[in-house]
Amino acid sequence: MKFREFTLNDYESVIDLWKLAGLKLSRSDTYEGLKVKLKRDPDLFFVLEEQNRIIAVVMGSFDGRRGWINHLAVHPEYQGKKLGQQIIDELQRRFKKIGCEKMNLLIELSNENVQSFYEKQGFKKHDLIFMEKWIT
Ligand SMILES: CC(C)(COP(=O)(O)OP(=O)(O)OC[C@H]1O[C@@H](n2cnc3c(N)ncnc32)[C@H](O)[C@@H]1OP(=O)(O)O)[C@@H](O)C(=O)NCCC(=O)NCCS
Repeated sequence: MKFREFTLNDYESVIDLWKLAGLKLSRSDTYEGLKVKLKRDPDLFFVLEEQNRIIAVVMGSFDGRRGWINHLAVHPEYQGKKLGQQIIDELQRRFKKIGCEKMNLLIELSNENVQSFYEKQGFKKHDLIFMEKWIT
């Protein structure tokens, strides 16, 4: 098993993995959207591969102040084998290397059970109001 950075050749496999893992995708997850994302922090967007098969992925970003964790997913056949934990550890190592002091993430209310996974990785819940606006 090895970590390697996401490339646009992985697009279909990664979209399939996100869908299999039940993540909500948005208009930002088109091929063009991920191409734009790759222009920033390409080293924070990586996959875990076993024998040329992508079995996990995470899209990290650094906004210059905080590190953000997006779209973490482990293939259902590989869940519960500490791969999620290994990905968080690797991402934390990469954030630290670039001077990032704090990692943030958001959980969909429909996926609230995953909170205990993050708590086991040392994250704490912080209640606040998340607001958003799509720019058209
Ligand atoms: C959440 C996810 C990334 C965890 O990856 P994983 O490889 O299955 O988890 P790990 O094996 O590293 O688990 C580490 C610990 O968290 C616990 N855990 C894992 N997934 C959990 C979940 N969904 N709910 C509660 N606890 C969970 C494990 O039991 C384990 O506990 P232990 O250390 O006491 O044994 C993976 O289950 C997944 O892809 N889920 C679907 C997509 C998703 O919800 N992504 C997160 C979006 S915010």
